Amino acid sequence: MHAITPPEPPVRLRDLIDAMRKLGHAARHAQPHAGHAAHVSDARGAALAVTTCDGAIVSVNRSATVLFGYANAELAGKQLADFAHDDDHAHAEHEFRSNAAEAFRSFDVTLVGRTGHRLFLRVFQQSIATDASNAPLRLLMFVEPLTLANVNSIDGDTHAFTNWLFMGQQRERERLAAELHDGMGQALTLIKLMVEDARMRLRAGHTDDAAQLLDSTVLQIRDTIGEMRQICGELRPLALERLGLPAALSTLCRRVEKSVETLRVAFACGVEDGEIRDHLKADIFRVVQEALNNIVKHADASEVRVDLQRDGAYLRLSIHDNGSGYDHHPLNSNDARTNGLGLIGMQHRVEAQGGVFALNPGDDGGTEITAHWRL
Ligand SMILES: Nc1ncnc2c1ncn2[C@@H]1O[C@H](COP(=O)(O)OP(=O)(O)OP(=O)(O)O)[C@@H](O)[C@H]1O
Ligand SMILES: [Mg+2]
Repeated sequence: MHAITPPEPPVRLRDLIDAMRKLGHAARHAQPHAGHAAHVSDARGAALAVTTCDGAIVSVNRSATVLFGYANAELAGKQLADFAHDDDHAHAEHEFRSNAAEAFRSFDVTLVGRTGHRLFLRVFQQSIATDASNAPLRLLMFVEPLTLANVNSIDGDTHAFTNWLFMGQQRERERLAAELHDGMGQALTLIKLMVEDARMRLRAGHTDDAAQLLDSTVLQIRDTIGEMRQICGELRPLALERLGLPAALSTLCRRVEKSVETLRVAFACGVEDGEIRDHLKADIFRVVQEALNNIVKHADASEVRVDLQRDGAYLRLSIHDNGSGYDHHPLNSNDARTNGLGLIGMQHRVEAQGGVFALNPGDDGGTEITAHWRL
């Protein structure tokens, strides 16, 4: 008789969100500077992963794919310990597979990314409550901690905080360099070859061939400009710099509405750009962007309302859709390749800035995401 492997327990979004809240809370209390760790992230937010209790990767978010240099599909199913540096392999295996009873743990490991670079990471790990109590899953957050030398050379919180910010910027630059190299570098090389080829044909008197080739070159240049805009937009939404948050959100909503014929996106804003703290703006924009992405991808909705309002001393954001509702889409570890951790990243962004995040079923069966921060 064949042994039947029970399916992985589906993760309910509610449980995942609850685990993220506990993880954030415990991480802040686990070490003196952990509160600042939240700031060490690239434009996409903190690096997160869900694993089984013996350390096999179920899913990672986009920041984690950037950190490790592998796609989600390449990581899913692999043991995290397999990415440990040779010198740290036995220790990493022990930590990732540890069956320790406590719900929250943190430890340091040295992993190796795709390009062979060493990653000195502090891992914050929180158990996720699942229905099947025999195989709980875990939520992991990866942070690049300050080195001991750095900590000793600074005195006081302000310097530590500046250092965390500096490291965040450094990671951001590395990511930008990689994207420029892989995306723009290749495209410009191709354009150069095409123009050289056209010049050769012109010199040989094949003007029709040359003109055809130049036509294709123009299309290639147009694609490259589009790609460059996308890279810039990912780093810091250009519209945000140019227009301020309310107008940038309005533009985003109109763009989504235009791209999906059957979707109406209403946007209401009761605050001025100047009333919103500067460091909140990019996060609010990213939360709305990911929420709208999710609605387009998963909700099958016909109406969305995005609302940004002042409520006493608070700034309140809500994104409501009339779609199928998230409860109908459990985050199932069997679908690791298609399910991401965008929602958890969204929650982390909100809570890292002292805000409160909630995901609730809407009155009409859809979904409502709300976030509020002190003004
Ligand atoms: N507005 C929504 N309506 C219905 N289901 C949703 C909605 N938002 C999210 N979901 C469900 O929640 C799951 C988790 O969303 P999340 O953003 O974390 O990951 P993803 O969109 O699948 O991947 P990623 O964001 O990493 O590309 C989705 O796979 C989907 O099943
Ligand atoms: Mg998503």
